[in-house]
Amino acid sequence: MSDQSVFDVDVWTLTRFIMETGRQVKGSTGELTQLINSLLTSVKAISSAVRKAGLIHLQGLAGNVNVTGDEQKKLDVLSNNLIINMLQASYGTCLLVSEENKDAIFTPADKRGKYIVCFDPLDGSSNIDCLAPVGTIFAIYKRASDGEPSDKDALQPGNQIVCAGYALYGSATLVALSTGTGVNFFMLDPAIGEFVLTDRNVKINKKGKTYSINEGYAKYFEPAVNEYLKHKKFPEDGGAPYSARYIGSMVSDIHRTLAYGGIFMYPANEKSPKGKLRLLYECNPIAFLIEQAGGIATTGTQRVLDLQPESLHQRAPFVVGSPDDVKEYLSFVKKHQK
Ligand code: AHM
Ligand code: MG
Repeated sequence: MSDQSVFDVDVWTLTRFIMETGRQVKGSTGELTQLINSLLTSVKAISSAVRKAGLIHLQGLAGNVNVTGDEQKKLDVLSNNLIINMLQASYGTCLLVSEENKDAIFTPADKRGKYIVCFDPLDGSSNIDCLAPVGTIFAIYKRASDGEPSDKDALQPGNQIVCAGYALYGSATLVALSTGTGVNFFMLDPAIGEFVLTDRNVKINKKGKTYSINEGYAKYFEPAVNEYLKHKKFPEDGGAPYSARYIGSMVSDIHRTLAYGGIFMYPANEKSPKGKLRLLYECNPIAFLIEQAGGIATTGTQRVLDLQPESLHQRAPFVVGSPDDVKEYLSFVKKHQK
């Protein structure tokens, strides 16, 4: 029996994958590789903290409210500090934007590099205390200007993303990553403490069988959204209705959509005229991954990645998923615009 049948002796870890892809880029200095490796270290530490939360008294509130009005959980604060410290120690960043910090965070001058990272350290954290999956989301940009970095450097449209991804702390810990040449999935093998490549060049199904939206807000939705949902539940052609799936933790809802196909929606509504999700560190990284997998990401009226950000924490309506499903939704939007 070959040793490979019991143990992979040529394992593709995420670190190896990043080093390899980095080397293929002409003139690359290894700065991005180092940055991503540092980020992955914080993801491993967050994964460990999430899994031990109840045992080491990390459940519950930290006692503060963050910039977008959400109560901060102890794990939000821990995850945020971990990511900031690891990213600054990578010598690859100059500016960080976090959901948990009102202002942009400037890396001390002696540790500065050329990248900007926008991140949500622990998305879906209202689910922590009931043990539902949570995630980390990030987008990395290259600085476009010289001199002292400023907030403006972070206000780049998503179409400028160099690398984006998410970590899902679910029944296993998984990282989905794209550097602009497709999407790959890596699963954390706790035995070796490494992310191992499990799915290469992931493509989303052309059409799915599920819709994912907080339908409890139907009262506040625009007519196009409600008409689309009605069509999914009572198809006029007599076909099978779609299943509803909504965890309320975006990374898990998105990961299911990427893995099985379908549509995820957080559209504008009467109470949240710009939707709920934040453009820089929630919508853009996910839109980048979905497009890299062959899907569509729209606000309902335009491509998410083409939105010019105006402020660090701005929100955007967000509809993403399988191309046929999103196109069908857009046809309802169009009908109502007439
Ligand atoms: P958070 O950043 O405060 O965790 O909020 C973002 C989360 C997403 O994960 C999820 O898609 C959405 O909020 C759920 O919102 P709602 O409870 O309104 O359906
Ligand atoms: Mg969030």
